Amino acid sequence: MTDHHKTNIMTLTRYVLEQQRQHPDATGDLSIAMNAVQVGCKFVEACVRKARLINLVGLAGNTNVQGEDQKKLDVLSNEMFVNALIASGKFSFMVSEEVDDIVVVPEELRGKYCITFDPLDGSSNIDAGVNVGTIFGIWRLPSGSKATVDEILVPGSEIIAGGYCMYGSSCNLVLTFGCSRVEGFTLDPALGEFILTHPNIRVPSRGKIYSVNEGNSLYWDDATKAYFNSVKFPSPESGRKPYSARYIGSMVADVHRTLLYGGVFAYPSDRKSRSGKLRILYESFPMAFITEQAGGKATTGSQRVLDLVPKHIHDRCPIFLGGVDDISDVEAAFASNS
Ligand code: AHG
Ligand code: MN
Ligand code: MN
Ligand code: MN
Repeated sequence: MTDHHKTNIMTLTRYVLEQQRQHPDATGDLSIAMNAVQVGCKFVEACVRKARLINLVGLAGNTNVQGEDQKKLDVLSNEMFVNALIASGKFSFMVSEEVDDIVVVPEELRGKYCITFDPLDGSSNIDAGVNVGTIFGIWRLPSGSKATVDEILVPGSEIIAGGYCMYGSSCNLVLTFGCSRVEGFTLDPALGEFILTHPNIRVPSRGKIYSVNEGNSLYWDDATKAYFNSVKFPSPESGRKPYSARYIGSMVADVHRTLLYGGVFAYPSDRKSRSGKLRILYESFPMAFITEQAGGKATTGSQRVLDLVPKHIHDRCPIFLGGVDDISDVEAAFASNS
């Protein structure tokens, strides 16, 4: 094979089809569902790329159910995903950060999945040109689904696919269907295809970075304080040096770095936000699933994130995620300080 052109490229579409062939009972529905996700991600990437040029930065002028000022891109990316996902005919309803209630798909277009998504993560960063992203999780609905909200208020461990797309210096889409495989793809803008560039991502069991908003330290509980002190002022017997601090403020970017380099990303609960800030269904569950499938762990401090069952679609939870050894230290800090 001539080596000046790679002519046997593993695109995301081909990868998903190969996954489908490995599952005898696969019908191709998830492949088509993933194509709709890809279209949404490529659209948002194009908008983020030229946001400043077409006056797409700034506020949309209304607030969402979270009480946040929606950015124009929050609204635009949400609409794009909702339309592409409905048109795929593979979802019966969906949960979006930007929509108060579940989005029910017209009967004739319903499919066997539910998708939960954060169309634009880190949108407070968008006006500064800092990395932002999209996060999504896919669930298989019970047969005879009535497309009702109770069908998605289930343990996170029932998730069947999770992924994120990060819009930054390059556009990276990271995805897992379980089976301890997490794959990273990079958008080739010339082809308009996501190409496999980071096969089989594994989180290092211990890293050298902690990632948390220290501006909330005043409100932290004792266990959180104890953990972060242990990485900032390591005891002599631990034989470790202090960790570096890295906090981008877009979950997708902070988690992506944690998956590749190791360490801990956290959004703890505190006296100001009793359940933390990150939303269970479309931030914590997909990122916890990806982290576990890459060999890492995700905890609230006192329990596995994927064992949670949300009561409402916009419920939040505290989250610490990263390599197994680093997260064991978090769990130990909670065990001895609760
Ligand atoms: P979103 O932009 O989708 O509302 O999410 C923002 C989240 C997440 O991206 C990030 O980890 C966190 O907000 C940062 O919050 P602080 O600014 O409070 O640290
Ligand atoms: Mn938001
Ligand atoms: Mn978010
Ligand atoms: Mn968002």
